[in-house]
Amino acid sequence: MSAARKHVVVFRKIPDDLLGRIAERHDVTVADPRRADELPRFRDALHGACGLIGSSYKLGASELREANSLRVISSISVGVDNYELPFLKQRGITLCHTAGVLTETTADTVFALVMATSRRLVELSNHVREGRWTRNIGEDLFGWDVHGKTLGVLGFGRIGQAVARRAALGFDMPVIFHDPFDVTLPAALAGRAQRASFDEVLARADIVALTLPLCDETRGLMDAGAFSAMKPGAIFVNGSRGAIVREDALLAALDSDHLRAAGLDVFAVEPLAHDSPLRNHPKVTALPHIGSATHETRRAMAELATDNLLRVLDGATPVAAFDLSTI
Ligand code: DGY
Repeated sequence: MSAARKHVVVFRKIPDDLLGRIAERHDVTVADPRRADELPRFRDALHGACGLIGSSYKLGASELREANSLRVISSISVGVDNYELPFLKQRGITLCHTAGVLTETTADTVFALVMATSRRLVELSNHVREGRWTRNIGEDLFGWDVHGKTLGVLGFGRIGQAVARRAALGFDMPVIFHDPFDVTLPAALAGRAQRASFDEVLARADIVALTLPLCDETRGLMDAGAFSAMKPGAIFVNGSRGAIVREDALLAALDSDHLRAAGLDVFAVEPLAHDSPLRNHPKVTALPHIGSATHETRRAMAELATDNLLRVLDGATPVAAFDLSTI
């Protein structure tokens, strides 16, 4: 265990007690690079930094090139698409993330979008709120059953499996899934979830939930061809990353009535542009990237990221490191 103080840059707000834990052991610069007034201090601090902890900022090779002492980036996220993985690998920088602690919360969000889109919850809540509930609703406002529908899950990692459990065990939904990697089916899903090709999932699912990570292979994967391969009247839900979806193609599929609805927690550009057609689209339920955003889970993520950072700086194995040997 190395006791020498090192320099840590905290680039996203973390709870004071966790900041205190880091500051007890290391010299800390707190600077949020998304704020123009803090960006120069952030860049300056990178020069001597051994560790970085934060999230929601694209940290590319050009910015890290001068960070010659950098040993660890501890991301307060499970997704690692904000980092240039080949660069980190080549430099021997450990990349930690918060896999595990946000699985169930993010699956809750994805399933909430399944419910909201199928049963038109936001639209009908607005119907009441805006004083339009003046007589019993008619067929034009009826929804679509969720129970018994076939759920297609694209990406069957931790979150995809947790969504599948909710669907299969709670809503009696047959589940089909596609994942590019080998998957060991958890006992709870034995006999309830079936592996299928990407095309088969699109063709057979009533509701497609996207839980794949963003990488070169998945960027733009949901394009015009993929949407037109979905069942007519199906629903599309995205709880992973917006850039996996060609938003123009999704809009076309909604506007042509090929798709019934879309539930989106993530967008190609976030926050969603004021003039994005997805913002007010009648068939879209849009959320502001809240997958893991509960008090309990955000706290757990910040704690895990702090543990990861301190462990690597101590020369110990982090609790959750992204495996850079796979790239
Ligand atoms: C994650 O943990 O990757 C969330 O989507 C936040 O970015």
